[in-house]
Amino acid sequence: MKTRFLFFLLFILTTAAETTDPTLNDDILGLIVFKADLEDPQSKLASWNEDDVDPCGWVGVKCDSRSRRVAELSLDGLGLSGKIGRGLLQLSSLRKLSLSRNNFSGALNPDLTRLENLHTVDLSDNALSGPIPSKFFWQCRSLRSVSLAVNRLSGEIPATVGNCLTLASLNLSSNLISGSLPSEILSLYGLRVLDLSGNFLIGKIPSGMGRMFNLRTVSLKRNWLSGILPDDIGGCLLLRSLDLGENLLSGVLPETMRRLAMCSYLSLRSNNFTGDVPLWLGDMKNLRTLDLSKNGFSGGVPDSIGSLQFLKRLNFSENSLTGSLPESMGSCRGLVVVDFSRNSLVGSLPSWLFQLGLQKILLSGNNLNGSVRISSASEQTVQILDLSANTFSGLIPSEIEGLLSLQTLNLSHNFFIGSIPVIFGKLNVLEVVDLSVNQLHGNIPQEIGAAVSLRDLKLEKNSLSGGIPIQIGNCSSLTSLILSHNNLSGPIPPTLAKLTNLQIIDLSRNNLSGNLPKELSALPHLLSLNISHNFFSGEVPSGLFNKISPSSLSDNPDLCGSAVNRSCSTVLPKPIVLNPNSSSSHSPSSEFSPENLRHKKIILSISALIAIGAAVLIALGVITITLLNFHVRAATSHSAATLNISDDYMSQSPATDANSGKLVMFGRDDPDFSTGAHAILNKDCELGRGGFGTVYKTVLRDGKPVVIKKLTVSSLVKSRDDFEREIKKFGKMKHPNLVCLEGYYWTKSLQLLIYEFVSGGSLFKHLHESPELNCLSWQERFDIILGVARSLAHLHRHGIIHYNLKSNNVLIDGSGEPKIADYGLAKLLPMLDRYILSSKIQSALGYMAPEFACQAVKITDKCDVYGFGVLVLEIVTGKKPVEYMEDDVVVLCDVVRGALDEGRVEECLDGRLAGKFPVEEAVPVVKLGLICTSQVPSNRPDMNEVVKILELIRCPQDSQADDLC
Ligand SMILES: *[C@@H]1O[C@H](CO)[C@@H](O)[C@H](O)[C@H]1NC(C)=O
Ligand SMILES: *[C@@H]1O[C@H](CO)[C@@H](O)[C@H](O)[C@H]1NC(C)=O
Ligand SMILES: *[C@@H]1O[C@H](CO)[C@@H](O)[C@H](O)[C@H]1NC(C)=O
Ligand SMILES: *[C@@H]1O[C@H](CO)[C@@H](O)[C@H](O)[C@H]1NC(C)=O
Repeated sequence: MKTRFLFFLLFILTTAAETTDPTLNDDILGLIVFKADLEDPQSKLASWNEDDVDPCGWVGVKCDSRSRRVAELSLDGLGLSGKIGRGLLQLSSLRKLSLSRNNFSGALNPDLTRLENLHTVDLSDNALSGPIPSKFFWQCRSLRSVSLAVNRLSGEIPATVGNCLTLASLNLSSNLISGSLPSEILSLYGLRVLDLSGNFLIGKIPSGMGRMFNLRTVSLKRNWLSGILPDDIGGCLLLRSLDLGENLLSGVLPETMRRLAMCSYLSLRSNNFTGDVPLWLGDMKNLRTLDLSKNGFSGGVPDSIGSLQFLKRLNFSENSLTGSLPESMGSCRGLVVVDFSRNSLVGSLPSWLFQLGLQKILLSGNNLNGSVRISSASEQTVQILDLSANTFSGLIPSEIEGLLSLQTLNLSHNFFIGSIPVIFGKLNVLEVVDLSVNQLHGNIPQEIGAAVSLRDLKLEKNSLSGGIPIQIGNCSSLTSLILSHNNLSGPIPPTLAKLTNLQIIDLSRNNLSGNLPKELSALPHLLSLNISHNFFSGEVPSGLFNKISPSSLSDNPDLCGSAVNRSCSTVLPKPIVLNPNSSSSHSPSSEFSPENLRHKKIILSISALIAIGAAVLIALGVITITLLNFHVRAATSHSAATLNISDDYMSQSPATDANSGKLVMFGRDDPDFSTGAHAILNKDCELGRGGFGTVYKTVLRDGKPVVIKKLTVSSLVKSRDDFEREIKKFGKMKHPNLVCLEGYYWTKSLQLLIYEFVSGGSLFKHLHESPELNCLSWQERFDIILGVARSLAHLHRHGIIHYNLKSNNVLIDGSGEPKIADYGLAKLLPMLDRYILSSKIQSALGYMAPEFACQAVKITDKCDVYGFGVLVLEIVTGKKPVEYMEDDVVVLCDVVRGALDEGRVEECLDGRLAGKFPVEEAVPVVKLGLICTSQVPSNRPDMNEVVKILELIRCPQDSQADDLC
């Protein structure tokens, strides 16, 4: 219905309308047709109803009160789009057309200006394109104001513009207009506002401009205008605002400009003007903003600036000004912003600087010198104080604490001495503090914690000492923390991890030590972290540091982990035994100076219960943890003995009962155990580090050696109840081929697992590090394979997946029996996060089943079967699962599989076994290994089947195999 009606209207419009007298009906028809041409997605023009007798009540429409003809159409910002249609041409009484801030597109309709009464046209901020038609200005009759700003109009400004003698305002800014300024524009004597900024105008500003004496506002900024300013520019006596910034204008400023006494805004920024800053600028008495920045002005700052009484903003930055800042400027009472950055000014700070109520003081990059004196402590207006890159010296004045509105303080690259003044507790809106590259001493004040709005803190290249205050954890807005090149010591405060906005941390080249808090890896926005050239130690937490370039970790000799290519994980059976009676023969004597030794003996003779490691304190040396409040509980079937151990390893303060942990030893209730005892924590008893924690060896009071594993995944460990449930399950896993879990210790922050000590070292050592003469015989190897298979079958029967099978985790006891360690620990993680897991056990590279990498596949015990298969191949070939050659990576299974296909599988066997193994056993074992490493989990046998197969493979009798090779 409706479209048919509009079609009908259009038909009428193009035929009858031209011939009839203009009537009210024409206005309705015109508007309806205009509406039909546009899109109105928000139905803003819903009130425009063709059945009305009168459009005067429609949205955006205003009528002349007498003639009732449409006089104004204002549809700004209504989200309209489409074409500005011909319907408007019917509105013959239209005086004002304003369609700004819509999305009208297409070309500019040149006939619009034919409307006799049209006074104001504002089509700014639309998507009009194409050139401005000559006709647009040719036929203008009463046009006073035209704005076509912020469109996509292109081409040149038509010379016909000179015809619109009535024009008072022409705004063509922010289009794609090119070419030069037509000289015809000079005949627009009535023009008050000319804005051609943000186009591609080239060439010179035509001389004769001075005849346009009505001009009030001229903006030609952001074009490519070049050449010198016309000499007569001073003729525009009424000029209030002149913006010629960001062009290519050059030469000296014409002296006629001194006559622009009304001018309050003058920007010549970013041009190529040269010569002295003219003395006569002082005659432009009305100036409020004077921006000569980024030019080639030279010479001194004229004293006459002082006569600019109303001056508020002065920007002379990035010129070549010399001399000192004139004292005369003290009379610029209204001054708010001064920017003299990047000139060659000398001398000391003028006295007016802190007396005028300035908000922004920017003087960086000059040669200003002397000490900084802030005369009036009541100066509360300063928001930005940038004195960087000068040669200021002396102390940072303590009066700075009176600058209560200070947001940015930049004193970097000077010669300030002394300590950091009390700014942080006092100045509550500080956002940026840059004191870098000075000669400051002393500590970073603890009051830093009060700086809650601080975003950037830069203190690098000073001589600051002491620790990083833990209070820094309260600076919740901090995004950038740069403390490099100082003498800071102590650890990274863990509170740093609370600063979730941090993006950049640079602590390089200090004397910082301790472990890297793994919580840092949780910082969501961290882009860069540099801790190089310090004394950090311990494992580099995965997750974070794997993403960070090795150079930002470099020169921390005690760091380990894959990120620094230094292994933490080797469980090297280099037994550094704590008991001095047995230790002397094994330990390097240097570590046991007589005094040390005596000290240890004393501790041990009183105590000797458990050596417990806590990484924080390892760095600090020998720490005692007191066992307190011993309780016996024999409630469970395991008759567990329960002790409380004070959990003071964090605070280093004497034990408090409040935070005590719980020690449970399975199957022990002997009274010897119950006497209160001391435990010591000592790096000397560290056996090694694995994916899940650090391993220590110690001797229980009853003389039984145990291994203590301190879990490093503590934040990942489940709740105490879950932890205990899992652990008790492991505690029940008695099997000759499993390392027995003897007990555990639990607090929120520290979890220890206590295992039986296995004396013979790891399978890895036996296979890859023992001398040729001493290598495992075939028989021993077969026994190990079978033992491992049995223990895995046992675990799987009880629903435990090992997850981390590798030759490092297979220990060989005194009688050659294999015992698997580390089983099921992955189960302690709250969720089986494969990312964490695979990074935790990345040292198990090569043993990991392919489905592990695949989020979608369920991890089953077939995963262990894969690892077992790799282990089998490792045992029979004596080669590591993955070997890194000079420019090649050799994956064991692939090599063996290839060899099998080519029928030369025997060549793969460990060379040290040459001729000393029964082929009829060896080949099936290799095949079994290969089947276990099938890519598809369901193609792998389960461990029960593996055990049966192995028992079948074993030859009934084979004596020769017992020989050593
Ligand atoms: C403006 O109109 C064009 C098409 O004419 C369309 O692609 C664009 O999304 C519109 N923009 C807005 C802001 O409506
Ligand atoms: C020109 O139009 C733009 C966009 O509407 C506006 O921002 C600017 O202030 C106008 N120029 C002058 C001198 O009024
Ligand atoms: C400014 O002038 C200098 C020499 O007077 C010239 O080398 C330089 O290219 C000019 N810069 C621009 C942007 O025109
Ligand atoms: C001064 O001018 C420079 C260059 O044009 C500009 O980067 C700076 O922000 C200006 N200073 C102030 C305080 O506006």
